[in-house]
Amino acid sequence: MSNVIDGRASAAGWQTEIAGEVADLRERSGITPGLRVIIVGNDPASRSYVRRKSRVAGEVGIDGQLVELDENVTTDELLTVISGFNEDAAVHGILVQLPLPPHVDEVRVLRTIAPEKDVDGFHPVNVGGLFSARDPMDGTRLLPCTPLGCMRLIDETLGVDSLSGKEAVVIGRSNIVGKPMAALLLGANCSVSQIHSRTVDPAARCRDADIVIAAVGRPGLVDGDWIKPGAAVIDVGINRVQTPDGGKRLVGDVDFDAVAGVAGAITPVPGGVGPMTVAGLMFNTLTAARATLQSPESS
Ligand code: GUN
Repeated sequence: MSNVIDGRASAAGWQTEIAGEVADLRERSGITPGLRVIIVGNDPASRSYVRRKSRVAGEVGIDGQLVELDENVTTDELLTVISGFNEDAAVHGILVQLPLPPHVDEVRVLRTIAPEKDVDGFHPVNVGGLFSARDPMDGTRLLPCTPLGCMRLIDETLGVDSLSGKEAVVIGRSNIVGKPMAALLLGANCSVSQIHSRTVDPAARCRDADIVIAAVGRPGLVDGDWIKPGAAVIDVGINRVQTPDGGKRLVGDVDFDAVAGVAGAITPVPGGVGPMTVAGLMFNTLTAARATLQSPESS
């Protein structure tokens, strides 16, 4: 029954569009968008994500440099690095990969990134902009990359106009995905429920939904009997699990085999939301670079 949504193909198409616009910006204004991706420490999964972000930046014509800092860097040392990039006109986007080691003050770090260079959309100014906007997808703001990528996938699959009046359930309430995702769906005129680990009978809540977004980091949580036939299911989970032969594989928060037979559309893991997050970061970096043309004093 399911239409499996190909996030790799969608991300490739989006990146081709972005590459064209980056080239156009350079031709018109001489500006090459600059991105700095900061990673603290040696977590293998985080390191692989940031390498991918930097590589894809190069592929679309963005100057995307990786900045690797020691596990023991202090909050103040990290703030000094960020302040340097805030002052650097060649840098349009700054991303600090999360999670940070526990001794680093994440709140201070995210508040130090200049809002106009905050390509993650995590600064309180950008969070406030998202939650107070009538149409948060109006193209003027920096939105968190994963929810932005999910909205694009939903738009390509269902058409964003078709979201109006639909029931959406977001499983998870993180600042990175759950909360901004709910705000974007609300902006698209969905009726949104946000459910989480304390919700009583989450399966019953999901069964009413036309769209389910799973973003909790619990492998295979969402089963086939949670889903209304024909619903769209977007799986944001990326969980490394042990296989019976002692190997490892990536699975989402959705039991793909069980849900694929019921849902109308479903994203796989890997190859669903993940590539769209990276493309969303490129889009935000382009948006931030373009904005300096409108307000050169803030570049
Ligand atoms: N860690 C997991 N997802 C993200 C993200 O979108 N941005 C950052 N900075 N860190 C993350």
